[in-house]
Amino acid sequence: MIAITGATGHLGLATINALLPKVAPTEIVAVVRDPQKAASTLPQGLTVRTGDYNDPASLLAAFQGVETVVLISSSELENDARIREHRNVIDAAKQAGVRHLIYTSIVNPSPESAFNASPSHFSTEEYLRASGLAYTVFRNTLYLDIIPMLVGEGKLPSSKLYSSAGDGKVSYGLRAEMGEALANVLTSEGHENQVYDIAPGPAYSFQDLAATLSEVTGQPVEYVSVSGEEIAAGMRQHQVPEPFVNLLLGMHQAMKNGEFAMPSTTFEQLLGRKPMDLKTYLTSVYGK
Ligand SMILES: NC(=O)c1ccc[n+]([C@@H]2O[C@H](COP(=O)([O-])OP(=O)(O)OC[C@H]3O[C@@H](n4cnc5c(N)ncnc54)[C@H](OP(=O)(O)O)[C@@H]3O)[C@@H](O)[C@H]2O)c1
Repeated sequence: MIAITGATGHLGLATINALLPKVAPTEIVAVVRDPQKAASTLPQGLTVRTGDYNDPASLLAAFQGVETVVLISSSELENDARIREHRNVIDAAKQAGVRHLIYTSIVNPSPESAFNASPSHFSTEEYLRASGLAYTVFRNTLYLDIIPMLVGEGKLPSSKLYSSAGDGKVSYGLRAEMGEALANVLTSEGHENQVYDIAPGPAYSFQDLAATLSEVTGQPVEYVSVSGEEIAAGMRQHQVPEPFVNLLLGMHQAMKNGEFAMPSTTFEQLLGRKPMDLKTYLTSVYGK
């Protein structure tokens, strides 16, 4: 059996949907912390078990009879808490006799990263490598799917894009395709003790985003490069909670530093086709 944690989240569900044509639903264990959300979110026929990253006993029970676990990284914002949660999952998998654990990390994980989530990914990877479990690490880049959050939700983006990322570039990837790549790895051989950069080329700057948005909407969109302080002040004006201000500020700084610009062909190889590019994605969201 294959267990997917975070099954009621976007990437977990995308992985399950991509697995369903290949694996009997009863062989897929959807590990969820909220059974009510599971009832309204998950496809029929899966084996659904409750497992909270903060409750080791629930994880141990959820992993019984499971051969491979996909640990979808936690949405907890505080680093030490995230690390603790991820370690709980790895420990429970080991205790339950799981053989292989696939972890969704970040490109370029580093304790020195400007991106607040990166140190917890670095630490989790280290812990996983030392665990004795067979492992596969998906170092996922930023999702294409977060671009609407960066450029403005709604049918048309704003005519001005503000960022403190300077000319920094990002290799964006579609979340649903990351789920597909995970499903492909789960149903094929040769992925044990591998680390994959899930970050397609080319990488794009905010200038590129503005130019592509202008092209697909037919309306001029201009990039305005601002300081981190200005971005933070803008978010606070819109009542963005402080932990998110810090997360987003760090993300823009990491973009500026080139931390997410890691073009690699691995994603294409695991998908078996070219990953979705920026223009196709923006056209699907904002196209006329
Ligand atoms: N690369 C990127 O651009 C990017 C962007 C955002 C996030 N991320 C990271 O990638 C992960 C997956 O992305 P996503 O889009 O699928 O995020 P998501 O939709 O927020 O899913 C996160 C999942 O983790 C589950 N979860 C959180 N805390 C948990 C806990 N204590 N115990 C059990 N389950 C817990 C959530 O459960 P519920 O469904 O009950 O909430 C949810 O299913 C995120 O959690 C985050 O670490 C990456």
